[in-house]
Amino acid sequence: MARATLPPGPKGHPLWGNLSDFRRDRGPKGHPLWGNLSDFRRDRLGFLTRAARDWGDVVPLRFGPRRLLLVSDPALIESVLVANSRHFVKGAGLRRNRHVFGNGLLVSDGDFWRRQRRLAQPAFHRQRIAAYADTMVAYTERLLAGWRDGETRDLHEEMMGLTLEIVAKTLFDADVTGDVRAVGDALDLLMTSFTARMNLTLLLPESLPTPTNRRLREAVARLDAIVFGIIERRRAGGEDRGDLLSMLLQARDEDGGRMTDRQLRDEALTLFAAGHETTGLALTWTFYLLAQHPAAEAKLAAELDAVLGGRAPTLEDRPNLPYTEQVVTEAMRLYPPAWTIGREAVADCPLGPYQLPKGGAVLMSQWVVHRDPRWFDRPDEFDPDRWADGLAKRLPRFAYFPFGGGPRVCIGNTFAQMEATLLLATIARRYRLALVPGRPVVPAPSITLRPKHGLRVTLHERAPRSADRLARTAS
Ligand code: HEM
Repeated sequence: MARATLPPGPKGHPLWGNLSDFRRDRGPKGHPLWGNLSDFRRDRLGFLTRAARDWGDVVPLRFGPRRLLLVSDPALIESVLVANSRHFVKGAGLRRNRHVFGNGLLVSDGDFWRRQRRLAQPAFHRQRIAAYADTMVAYTERLLAGWRDGETRDLHEEMMGLTLEIVAKTLFDADVTGDVRAVGDALDLLMTSFTARMNLTLLLPESLPTPTNRRLREAVARLDAIVFGIIERRRAGGEDRGDLLSMLLQARDEDGGRMTDRQLRDEALTLFAAGHETTGLALTWTFYLLAQHPAAEAKLAAELDAVLGGRAPTLEDRPNLPYTEQVVTEAMRLYPPAWTIGREAVADCPLGPYQLPKGGAVLMSQWVVHRDPRWFDRPDEFDPDRWADGLAKRLPRFAYFPFGGGPRVCIGNTFAQMEATLLLATIARRYRLALVPGRPVVPAPSITLRPKHGLRVTLHERAPRSADRLARTAS
């Protein structure tokens, strides 16, 4: 395709070259100083959605001094994440969290990232992940053993705790049951402070002793103590347990050097955070949607009854649970746990018909694209059946991208999909969850998309179907 002609003249923006002139009249108008920041702050999801609908697939935005392009065309997203991925590094939002994630997989770049990814990858091979299935179901059954019919619980909290225990056990062979609250509280604080800092744009240095920075440092210290504790105990034990932690401990670089404890900590903390928060949210939003769609809930229950007949699911059941998978897929369409991906160009780089100059920032939002009527009929409706007849194959590749794509695609993609399906099946075969009235559920977009006030639900035990559960009820 021919590149669009940029206007002549030597004077361009230092970062944007002539792109800003070229698109001067495009994009939502903002405040002379703050640009679009106050509109974005007021309603992030709504603002980005409107910007894309009103201005198209490439929309220039300005958040204070930061300029970025909101890109919503699946083909252009593919060009950033796949074809031209080598021209990009992670966006400023994630890089700004270096003090938390250090140089772990999520934020590192270049050769260092490539090496670390190669080291971690074997822990996520399909066969190895299959071995995690029993743990996932067993931990869920253990959680359910504490649930009682008619009780009210915060499902968001329950799912975060459960997925944290699962990631700790499967990847690190560590039992963090006693630390769930400490980790949960620390991550809560990280998310809140991330949002606060995203709103400030002209970021105050993290070294300033503001109350938020102080609390954040304390939270990181608590997480560090837990993670370093796990590493220390494993080093002391010395044995190879064949899990991710053992692989990372044994890894050697080309010079035979080992990973430092600091790097191990960065990778471990990244996997703890990235590996439980997102799956916990996928399940939370799934139950939120099911609670409002009784027909889908009934269809799911019917599938689980027919396939499982009252027993817990196993990995082998997965191919027989297509509707259960569709429910998860559809929930992640409407409430993508990772709702945006950011990138920054490290060299001048083509972006469809445009030329993105070095330093140019790009924002791609799953929330926006997953609700685009060009790709999805009745885009705001929860309809798991839309995935029944091969929709995924007909869609442009990046019209649905909950796990990102290209070389930086989520390393836990297969892990998460298996986990979400098995956990949903294990819980939904035993319980129907009803929303507690008068508790508004508001999506709060930070690094991830969380429900602002949690998700209060009432537990309704479903009628027992199998002989063993009938016997249990009778006894
Ligand atoms: C529903 C669950 C999940 C969702 C929606 C999700 C989403 C994502 C997305 C969108 C990215 C790409 C970010 C980018 O390109 O900037 C990513 C990366 C990553 N995810 Fe996930 N994730 C999930 C579960 C997991 C799990 C279970 C793990 C680990 C056990 C994990 C670990 C990671 C890591 C380490 C990266 C960085 C990979 C790299 O850059 O090499 N995620 N995730």
